[in-house]
Amino acid sequence: MSLLAVSGLTKRYRRGGGTVAAVDGVAFAIEPGETLALAGPSGSGKSTIARLVLRLTEPDAGTIQFEGADFRSLGGSALRARRARLQMVFQDPLAAFNPRATVARVLDDPLRIHGIASRTERPRRIAALLERVGLGADLAPRAIHEISGGQRQRVAIARAIATRPSLIVLDEAVSALDVSVRGRILDLLLDLQATERIAYLFISHDLGVVRAVAHRLVILDAGRVAESGDARAVIGNPQSAIGRALVAAAPRLNRTTAP
Ligand SMILES: Nc1ncnc2c1ncn2[C@@H]1O[C@H](COP(=O)(O)OP(=O)(O)OP(=O)(O)O)[C@@H](O)[C@H]1O
Ligand SMILES: [Mg+2]
Repeated sequence: MSLLAVSGLTKRYRRGGGTVAAVDGVAFAIEPGETLALAGPSGSGKSTIARLVLRLTEPDAGTIQFEGADFRSLGGSALRARRARLQMVFQDPLAAFNPRATVARVLDDPLRIHGIASRTERPRRIAALLERVGLGADLAPRAIHEISGGQRQRVAIARAIATRPSLIVLDEAVSALDVSVRGRILDLLLDLQATERIAYLFISHDLGVVRAVAHRLVILDAGRVAESGDARAVIGNPQSAIGRALVAAAPRLNRTTAP
């Protein structure tokens, strides 16, 4: 059984007098502990798929199965439990968090809301989470807006892993970081995957990053799947026109794609 299976996924938005399908009959599955990348040009539907998977928006058609259950049919405590197992990291943690909140507060919330640790245990848990993502416990009292972009993204990852998720959706999570910070965050994600067996739905327009972290790759074009397969195989020998265009537009790849 796949961890996540989407099928026939469709989301339309009103535009002008009619509607446009931002996501149009998309199907894919993610296995436990695996990284599936979504790539495609701007506007191809990547973030819409992320929002649909996270149930931040409702599909017009299609099914989303997560851990064997139709997310849409769940309610109450079953839904809350599933939500804890499905987390997210977005491009801009300043927008995702209250910038004036402290790091401790940001990490305390999921532990409290999901009843993971008692009030007296939580400071210790927060320190352990910070350590797990390579940050010192001295960061706990600092405000989100006072720390660096790389530190903020580590806090976002710490928050995501606080509830022991089986899947994390990352939408351009490393895109705003400079190259050296990006590399270290990618190493952290790989390390967490190896130790906690977390699966990632990894959205990126950067095929160099995709090749470094993804097992499989789905390339989107105007809301549809243009091609999919083993990430290195697709990047090394794209079959679709959009896949060839994306590879051609990734200069860092051209030097190193030859087998
Ligand atoms: N809330 C919305 N209302 C109307 N149209 C929307 C909405 N969200 C997305 N769209 C449209 O749906 C299409 C897909 O958008 P989406 O944000 O999923 O693309 P994307 O692949 O994430 O692009 P990018 O690489 O620029 O982040 C676009 O044409 C976009 O304008
Ligand atoms: Mg997007």
